[in-house]
Amino acid sequence: MKICFATNNRNKLEEIQQILGDSFEILSLKDIGCFDDIAEPHESLEENSAEKAEYIYTRYQIPVFADDTGLEIVALDGAPGVYSARYGGPERSAERNMTKVLAELEGAADRSAQFRTIMTYIDESGTFQFEGIVKGRIISERRGEGGFGYDPIFIPDGYDQTFGELPTSEKNQISHRVRSLSKLVEFLKSRHN
Ligand code: IMP
Repeated sequence: MKICFATNNRNKLEEIQQILGDSFEILSLKDIGCFDDIAEPHESLEENSAEKAEYIYTRYQIPVFADDTGLEIVALDGAPGVYSARYGGPERSAERNMTKVLAELEGAADRSAQFRTIMTYIDESGTFQFEGIVKGRIISERRGEGGFGYDPIFIPDGYDQTFGELPTSEKNQISHRVRSLSKLVEFLKSRHN
């Protein structure tokens, strides 16, 4: 079965193909001939993720899923949340984003946070959303060269290493994106049995 994952991010595509195995063939935006910059104009992960999936389904009529993720920090009332990619400015720099978060958390007693992903899947039978959360905390300095985004400042609960220090294979076992995706995979597999 062919499904489009509405992204061109190679890390995400590899991560997802690994989880899905051979039963599903994942096509990127490029693979289906979509070169548009799909907007993320809303104030919630649910709406942005749905908008991306709808954009593709309407134009290409192929089963599609799209994700939207945010880092939600308790002491910042859930920020950066849906604005995680551009928190430090429109250039979407991971360095600037982390610098801003660290500055805003200076002196904060509660450094707990979570990554939350909403995966929206659409096919001819409807629209379905799946949530994945990984809880943890923000440390006060960067550690590790791996991963991307806020990984060097986030330690998941039950670990001593940041997502930037953990091997990708280990991050992939517990990450927000993988958790939402696993729910989607269960759903797809149950329908194709
Ligand atoms: P997206 O919705 O997957 O594009 O994620 C939005 C933003 O959240 C990214 O630009 C990153 O700043 C951050 N983010 C998403 N997933 C991760 C992750 O696995 N580790 C660290 N940061 C992430």
